Amino acid sequence: MGKYTIVQAQALSEAVFEMWIHAPQVARHAKAGQFCIIHADGAGERVPLTISGTNGDDIRIAFMAVGTTTKLLATLKTGDELRDVAGPLGMPSDIARGSETVVIVGGGVGVACTPILAEAAKDAGNYVIGIIGARNRDLLIFEDDMRAICDELYVTTDDGSYGIKGFASGPLKELCESGRTIDKVWIIGPGMMMKVTSEVTRPFGIKTYVSLNPVMVDGTGMCGSCRVTVGGEMKFACVDGPEFDAHEVDWNDLMTRQRMYLAEEKQSMEFRAEQHVCRCRKVE
Ligand SMILES: Cc1cc2nc3c(=O)[nH]c(=O)nc-3n(C[C@H](O)[C@H](O)[C@H](O)COP(=O)(O)OP(=O)(O)OC[C@H]3O[C@@H](n4cnc5c(N)ncnc54)[C@H](O)[C@@H]3O)c2cc1C
Ligand code: FES
Repeated sequence: MGKYTIVQAQALSEAVFEMWIHAPQVARHAKAGQFCIIHADGAGERVPLTISGTNGDDIRIAFMAVGTTTKLLATLKTGDELRDVAGPLGMPSDIARGSETVVIVGGGVGVACTPILAEAAKDAGNYVIGIIGARNRDLLIFEDDMRAICDELYVTTDDGSYGIKGFASGPLKELCESGRTIDKVWIIGPGMMMKVTSEVTRPFGIKTYVSLNPVMVDGTGMCGSCRVTVGGEMKFACVDGPEFDAHEVDWNDLMTRQRMYLAEEKQSMEFRAEQHVCRCRKVE
């Protein structure tokens, strides 16, 4: 087996894919909250993806095919090789050993990050409540994993096709208002979901973490592309994060920077589509 062989690849839904990758150096050192940077082939971009689990020398990733590189990744099959997997990168989650009650909230593809976090929190002796949500039943991922790990699990769908109808913030609000002691909350999902959901815990003064996903290039704190403003200070998400105090994040700054390369991303998709047409014509 090659160094970065895909040992298992499967579609979890129409747009979300799961892969187990043989990456011994990454798997042996990875902790909850960390990510890797994948270089699928010599030509494509390097894509940061959260490590959502490990098993011996293999790591698990789950990704949404949204653009050029993730769509390319989605075409790869079991047995294919990736050019490079760098990691583990970033700081591990701030999990306390003891008897804290923690709530882990995942939305959409952000649920990919929750099993490894829930497992680490549980192994450290904490009481773990999971809340996972998706737009509809078909887009829900890792429910079985989370059910097996968590002491309690709430599932939501925006359209009510499964579980509780509504956003993941609903059960979180109910838990906060129930008067139960909640020591820490993690929220992982799209920017807007994290921004809105973290407002639920603010009035209760509950320490809340979010995992930020600004555009990253080197992942080592050198290029400055992943800078975010947290508590009025500039931080690099790749080395200072990606997890930060949700109540201190400047969300507008983050979302503006995430949109910076929309034109180039569109161009890249068009370029790849054109290349595809050319290759087919040659075959004809
Ligand atoms: C620490 C971290 C962990 C992540 N974990 C996951 C995960 O587990 N699953 C998942 O589906 N996605 C994850 N992402 C987002 C993922 O990296 C982007 O979806 C991916 O890079 C898109 O690349 P593309 O070429 O397919 O799409 P593009 O068309 O290039 O971009 C689509 C969108 O993805 C974002 N993006 C593009 N390039 C980057 C980049 N280099 N760094 C960050 N964001 C980028 C931009 O917001 C852009 O609008 C994570 C991002 C970060 C920073
Ligand atoms: S990705 Fe370059 S500094 Fe963080």
